[in-house]
Amino acid sequence: MTEQPLIFRNIAVMRRAVAQWRAAGEAVALIPTMGALHAGHISLIKASRENARRAIVSIFVNPTQFAPNEDFSAYPRTFEADLAKLAEAGCDGCFAPMASEMYPEGFSTKILPGGPALAGLEDRFRPDHFAGMAQVVAKLLNQSQADCAFFGEKDFQQLAVIRRMAADLDIPTAIFGVPTLREPDGLAMSSRNVYLSAQERAQAVTLSRVLRDSAKAIRAGAPVVDVVARAGREITAAGFALDYFEARQAQSLAPIAGLAEGPIRLLVAARLGRTRLIDNWPVE
Ligand code: PAF
Repeated sequence: MTEQPLIFRNIAVMRRAVAQWRAAGEAVALIPTMGALHAGHISLIKASRENARRAIVSIFVNPTQFAPNEDFSAYPRTFEADLAKLAEAGCDGCFAPMASEMYPEGFSTKILPGGPALAGLEDRFRPDHFAGMAQVVAKLLNQSQADCAFFGEKDFQQLAVIRRMAADLDIPTAIFGVPTLREPDGLAMSSRNVYLSAQERAQAVTLSRVLRDSAKAIRAGAPVVDVVARAGREITAAGFALDYFEARQAQSLAPIAGLAEGPIRLLVAARLGRTRLIDNWPVE
């Protein structure tokens, strides 16, 4: 029988368990999530095994990172199914706080991330998103006292913001990025994929295909500006409303015109019906 993870509803109980594990010489990894777990999340737990004996997955749909027009109330909440997946993956703990535990009466501190949070990508379309995301991630890292934390590369700008914040605020937790897990046709796994109709699901594969082909073309010497323009046209022709398709310096996320300026990451965000999809690809 698979063992159930310990369920922590409050910070003090989680911290006690973490202190015991660490006292026994066991490193602890935190995998922050908003639930609706899929194989991509499970790959984060697996990746954490290389660095930590214990894994805690947090499940909290964080209200402060959603704009009023976004999908906070519709966001999939599948706690029982999530727990079964965590048990199957051998996860040790699940931190699932109520909103009142995270943001008690009187809570009033904000984080204003700069640097990669202002790169002109997601921040152009979701202006307050990274402030809310950084706020909850800073809290989760502090609450858990984890030795290391694992995040998917699918949210590439998010990962850059978290790395910057952890460095700037002297948060001792080591931050790791894990490559995106994809469906067999290439679509990046995401909790929001459940919103796609059958027709949209078939169209959605365009994003990863265009990213892959564009990376190949840049590697083969095509001018970045031409490749990016063509990619935008292809994505629009496939029925998406394109928010952006950009080539950026992989670490700083600064605009980049060619491979001579350093490693390139291609990043895209586009909407299909009511679903907004993001993805990215390295040029290597
Ligand atoms: O990537 C996510 O699921 C969320 O932004 C995170 C990091 C769990 C913070 O709420």
